[in-house]
Amino acid sequence: MKKLENLLKKMSLDQKIGQLLQLNSSLLNREKTNIVTGPQQKLGLTPEMLQCCGSVLNFDCAESMIALQKAHLEQDPLGIPMLFMMDVIHGCRTIFPIPLAMGCTFDTELVKKCVTMSAKEAAASGVHVAFSPMLDLVRDARWGRVMESTGEDPYLNARMGEAFVKGFQSDILDRPEYIPACVKHFAAYGAAEAGRDYNTVDMSEHVLREYYLPAYKAAIDAGALLVMPSFNTIGGTPSVANKHLLRDILRDEWGFDGVVISDYAAIREMRVHGYVETDKEGALKAMEAGCDIEMMSGAYPKHLKELVEEGKVSMEQIDRAVMRVLRLKDKLGLFENPYRYASAITEKVLSTSFESRSLVRKAAAEAAVLLKNDGVLPFSKDVKSVAIVGPFAEEKGIKGFWSCYGKDEDCVSVAEGVRAKLPDADIVTAKGCSHELLDRDTSGVDEAAKAAAGADIAILCIGEYQNHSGEGNSRADISLPYPQRKLAEAVLAANPNTAVLLFTGRPLAIPELGEAAPAILNMWQPGTEGGNAAADLLFGDAAPGGRLAMSFPYMTGQCPVYYNHMNTGRPLKKDFRTAAYCSRYQDCPNDPLYPFGFGLTYTTFEYGEIKLSADSMKPDGKITASVTVTNTGDRDGAEVVQLYLRDNVASLVRPVKELKGYQKIFLRKGESREVSFEITDETLRFWRADGTYGSEPGEFSLALAPSSAAPLTNTFRLD
Ligand code: NOJ
Repeated sequence: MKKLENLLKKMSLDQKIGQLLQLNSSLLNREKTNIVTGPQQKLGLTPEMLQCCGSVLNFDCAESMIALQKAHLEQDPLGIPMLFMMDVIHGCRTIFPIPLAMGCTFDTELVKKCVTMSAKEAAASGVHVAFSPMLDLVRDARWGRVMESTGEDPYLNARMGEAFVKGFQSDILDRPEYIPACVKHFAAYGAAEAGRDYNTVDMSEHVLREYYLPAYKAAIDAGALLVMPSFNTIGGTPSVANKHLLRDILRDEWGFDGVVISDYAAIREMRVHGYVETDKEGALKAMEAGCDIEMMSGAYPKHLKELVEEGKVSMEQIDRAVMRVLRLKDKLGLFENPYRYASAITEKVLSTSFESRSLVRKAAAEAAVLLKNDGVLPFSKDVKSVAIVGPFAEEKGIKGFWSCYGKDEDCVSVAEGVRAKLPDADIVTAKGCSHELLDRDTSGVDEAAKAAAGADIAILCIGEYQNHSGEGNSRADISLPYPQRKLAEAVLAANPNTAVLLFTGRPLAIPELGEAAPAILNMWQPGTEGGNAAADLLFGDAAPGGRLAMSFPYMTGQCPVYYNHMNTGRPLKKDFRTAAYCSRYQDCPNDPLYPFGFGLTYTTFEYGEIKLSADSMKPDGKITASVTVTNTGDRDGAEVVQLYLRDNVASLVRPVKELKGYQKIFLRKGESREVSFEITDETLRFWRADGTYGSEPGEFSLALAPSSAAPLTNTFRLD
């Protein structure tokens, strides 16, 4: 600490401001020239500022990181190493299934393993910080960034958030293959109105606290070292200037002492929001809220000095922010070794290694959700002929948006996976149509249907292309594009032994497939080994392990649709078509097509009677809820046993059910196991009407069930 304090004392104000600046690598001087060109000028960067820039994002690989750091150290008068940050969202070079798919595994140990693998690859490429996990709760599948989240449930997101942070950081950051996690986007970015990216968020403190904050909090409690405020406004205040979020909650209530880094150009965007008139005012507001580093917008380098000279920002404020950055650098050992784990050789050895590919293959199978199966899956490996049709039959772009250094050419397509699985079968492929959203061309449909008709089995690979979800990629209509709907109709009519393989970054509205397809296996965007994982699942070498972390609606108009909604004063009690004067649609059910927690596999499970150890408890007591689950099918398999609760009457209305625990168990065929959950006062707490967390006495209902669709069958009381 003394070392850092001494260093701080030596720093000029410009050098301090440099530490609070993050730039794209393309803006840095690799050669020791003092030339500042257009893009740098636009951000108000002087040659001195560039020399003492504190951190970098978006750089190429180990070699380029090493060159940049070296050039920087030669220029920076105090030789303070830069921090290198990247969006390591679901892999680095080896790409794992998208986070929404990882949420569906309900397997935090597996998630942790995958994240650690990505951390190691990233560290070898010179990455010091991952802009991950993204823990925005998501309810609206129109939003493209749902693919980055682990879903619609606060409890599951919190467990996944912890797993991501532990996977990235472990408990021992001094090992160079672990990298700090940056929790984002704080807060409630996932509630963008109408699912349109960057759009307004407005919500009550109650909704914020109950649903949106728990996952960020869990990740911070797990030790995450950075936090990134979101782009959106909440109640009219942009997050990067939101004192309530960044000071009252994050720093004061939660005791977060790490680095807060703005999102890309978010400080400048405050002008565009209409929150400040000038960048100078923006810099002041962000500083006051406690944003330490500005990512790529130039307000800090241009105006912080002036603000200090005018006495609007104090030197103590600057020093606090700088110290947080220096402490992070010190924690990473950068003063001793500014290159840390970066090595072109290690990078090469690790990227898409056999070990990491095998882990992707396993994760993709565990994340895949079997939405429907009339018995066609798994296919027999004895089939003589296979037709693989649809725009994703040979597509290698199935790794998903935000895939860091990942490359399509590293990925295994479905056709490649099936060919490797069945080397002797006669395999034909036909694209049928494109995956473009606005395309109307159906001229290839007949040929694809013919191919399907002529084969023993057909695999229909449809869905959404990887660049149709992710940042900036909202959709107003999340049904299948017209040509893919026509293709599905024709192929399903041509061959009754057809399984649909769905590739998507979001839940899609696919009621027509739900009706007509004998089987639907949702692969999400499965990553580098997607095609091999699909082949394992299709031919029974693996069983689908996923349960939905986000509900699939019947129609886009249902969005946002989520299981933990309120009851309303007029709930729908009968068929939507005949009900009246109740909370319903005239043309669509209220419930989703496939609900949160739902997923089939190749065996079946039966749940016995749910037993409670008592029918009432005191606040310092507990109740054990248990159920015996039996594998009643013909194969071994995994089940996710889910605990749902409802607080029937409370000072603020509670949802119809809430996930409060889950256990993923593996049962051999015919095997039974008792699964138990402990309910304590903590399980029953919520953000109450008086603005405190706590439980309230009264009746609770409960279920131990295979999905959120199950009714709550048992009750108990809290005295
Ligand atoms: C903008 C995105 O919102 C954020 O998630 C990401 O980390 C930054 N850009 C940096 O790429």
